[in-house]
Amino acid sequence: MKKNNIEDQILVIFGSNGDLSKRKLLPAVFQLFIDGLLPERFIVLGAGSQEKDEIAYRADVNDALKTFAKNSYIEYSDKLDAFLQKVFYQKVNNQTEEDFGALKSYIDNIAQTLNIKQNIVYYFSIPPFLYEVVAANLVKFGLNNEENGWKRIIVEKPFGYSYDSAIDLDKKLHKGFNEDQIYRIDHYLGKETVQNIMVTRFSNGFFEPIWNRKYIDRVEITASEKIGVGDRGGYYDTSGALRDMIQNHLLQVMAVVAMEPPAVFDSDSIRNETVKVLQALRPIPSGKVADYVVRGQYISSAVDGVLQKSYREEKGVAPSSKTETFVALKLFIDNWRWGDIPFYIRTGKQLPERVTEVVIHLKPAPHQLFKQLCLTEPNNMIILRIHPDAGVAIDFGMKIPGAGFKVQNVNMAFHYSDLADKKIAEAYERLILDCMIGDSTLYARADAVKASWKFVDTILNAWKNDTEIPLYYYDCNTWGPKESNNLYDDKFMKWRNPFSKFKTE
Ligand code: BG6
Repeated sequence: MKKNNIEDQILVIFGSNGDLSKRKLLPAVFQLFIDGLLPERFIVLGAGSQEKDEIAYRADVNDALKTFAKNSYIEYSDKLDAFLQKVFYQKVNNQTEEDFGALKSYIDNIAQTLNIKQNIVYYFSIPPFLYEVVAANLVKFGLNNEENGWKRIIVEKPFGYSYDSAIDLDKKLHKGFNEDQIYRIDHYLGKETVQNIMVTRFSNGFFEPIWNRKYIDRVEITASEKIGVGDRGGYYDTSGALRDMIQNHLLQVMAVVAMEPPAVFDSDSIRNETVKVLQALRPIPSGKVADYVVRGQYISSAVDGVLQKSYREEKGVAPSSKTETFVALKLFIDNWRWGDIPFYIRTGKQLPERVTEVVIHLKPAPHQLFKQLCLTEPNNMIILRIHPDAGVAIDFGMKIPGAGFKVQNVNMAFHYSDLADKKIAEAYERLILDCMIGDSTLYARADAVKASWKFVDTILNAWKNDTEIPLYYYDCNTWGPKESNNLYDDKFMKWRNPFSKFKTE
């Protein structure tokens, strides 16, 4: 990773005692510290609602690193103390105005004592309903003032619950912050392998010429998870898979797969291209949502002899909840490149594998010379594996050695791990560092967020208003409701079910 133009700064984490902070943010900052990527003058200021002093907070941070950054914690134990010396704490109740006055005094003091310029990243690792409250409180006490250093905010997902609420939130944030100060984080864009989709496409001569409706038959994007909602039921029940995974992560991945090549590689040019894809999404015709989208919810079932809870039995979930834990949908991008090519997108919890991948299915050769001799259906695919065992594979037919012309599908796979001589950086490391540097390329821009909500809103409204649209139930450890295969017009076509070990059909 890079360390260019990184200025002295302060990282303030709102929600510093929360799960995200412990699991992802603090380990990411610790790793940046280990890698020598943080500036000389830098502190992390935890801002949480609990009353505690910095000694107690440092002990909490130590515990979080021990649990969630286990390997680095052991390997770099000699760096731990130096890192913890950079950690401070101030009690802030997000809804109490005066606490922001106290926060301001704290920052003024510490910045002066440690001689750090007041360049500040505020990380909103807090429930979404608090985003506007915290932003307004920062403004009230001039904590957005850039006279003594730049100010940036990182806003976690979900950014709004619907199109209208996203626009409303945006307006409120813009009261105190300009667009170039607002960083809407989507951790999928921080994944090395999502960025690699751009490199695969645009640094090679042989993918791009076939990357269009002439040669591609369909595109599938799957993000499956083996686990259920665990202890996040309270949040998830108000969200569901469509808002939780598709509106943000998977539509962003789709946009990267489908975008036009940018003229230059900079934040504006790249984001100008991805937003065009989202704006070109063909609206689902009203009254037709059930033909384009299948939703499901997991029910109690035995997996390896162990009975798994149903979604409705999870902590924090309403006993008669209709929230979807699985969504499969078909969409079209109305532009010259994609014409009528379908994109199939699917995500779900309690499925058999934890895998995220994009599968480009190519059209068959126009004349099947060896059709009678094929042992398997000729199947040309490009698989972009995002997680796990990241890499790229292509599937194509080969002659089986020996007499005659028997053909079999084979697979050529590149494993990303073969390229990296060190651990691949976590998405949060990359994204936090980018914000510190002021690079917003991998953050979602307001127009992109709006465009994806616009598409998703049609589905949410139909689910809310049309009681005829079914919610299918599926057993744990299956690939969701079998009705998801009905999205294919061809009744012989099915989803490709991925394997966590990178193998294809
Ligand atoms: C989060 C969702 O944004 O992404 C979770 O809220 C989901 O429900 C997670 O489990 C998946 O991310 P990853 O990086 O594990 O694929």
